[in-house]
Amino acid sequence: MTSAGSTKTVRRSVLAVPGSNPRMIEKAKGLAADEVFLDLEDAVAPAAKAAARANIVAALNSGGWNGQIRVVRVNDWSTEYTYADVITVVEGAGSEIDAILLPKVVDAGQVQALDLLLTQLEKANGLGVGRIGIEPQIENALGLRNIDAIATASPRVQTLVFGPADFMASINMRTLVVGEQPEGYEPGDAYHHIYMTILLAARAHGLQAIDGPYLAVRDIDGFRRNASRTAALGFDGKWVLHPDQITACNEIFSPRQADYDRAEEILDAYAFHTSVEGGARGAVMLGDEMIDEASAKMAQVIADKGRAAGM
Ligand code: GLV
Ligand code: MG
Repeated sequence: MTSAGSTKTVRRSVLAVPGSNPRMIEKAKGLAADEVFLDLEDAVAPAAKAAARANIVAALNSGGWNGQIRVVRVNDWSTEYTYADVITVVEGAGSEIDAILLPKVVDAGQVQALDLLLTQLEKANGLGVGRIGIEPQIENALGLRNIDAIATASPRVQTLVFGPADFMASINMRTLVVGEQPEGYEPGDAYHHIYMTILLAARAHGLQAIDGPYLAVRDIDGFRRNASRTAALGFDGKWVLHPDQITACNEIFSPRQADYDRAEEILDAYAFHTSVEGGARGAVMLGDEMIDEASAKMAQVIADKGRAAGM
């Protein structure tokens, strides 16, 4: 049996839900996040891992989802849990899983190991081979150093996901508030190099770039500040940990209406003017602004994001 999976491709908001909490999983089904990932990793205590796998399988098979991309985060390959996580959820509910989120990835081999295991499971369970995607999560210095090899390790890779909490711990950054600047590092953005490395690798290899969580869930202003930084750089979306963060996240990772309208206007004007005079005009004027091929490409980025968000 194969399932087409979610038809969504946009991932502005990625909701984290502990696999150990059936009530939260049921609630997530009706929320407006573009993706929901059911967690078997850090949100689930070791003694609760087996029960969480069963909860996730049951929740995926019982349906009622809102068209979200459905993802399971398994434990990383340095633990004793990963193989059983993958086998249990894919054997139990493989046709209902769009991708596996693989945390703390350090090299291409870890992605390839998951790819091989998924291929066997898909064959053995009559699922379409290659249908289940992989979302590698970059959470330490080695993963960041190996990011190009990780991004290209398997055609299943769909996104590169930042894990700021583990990452900042792994590089010994002196901070306790994920997403905020460490005290003493001013001015500047202590995250900038990491953000840009992930974004450049994603764009170089045709993947989505997804920012990780902002843990102070009651501080919506802080969430907005944090999300706006990666949205401005060009990231596709960000994790959300609480329903209150979803609306803000979808808004921040969609273009502003005025920018979307302007982008469509630029594209229309450029297409119109470059089609007259036998296509001989490279640059055209729109009001006071000169538009050429490169500015049309910038407008296309905003227009694509807006169209994907249903604007
Ligand atoms: C998420 O997994 C993080 O470490 O920030
Ligand atoms: Mg983490």
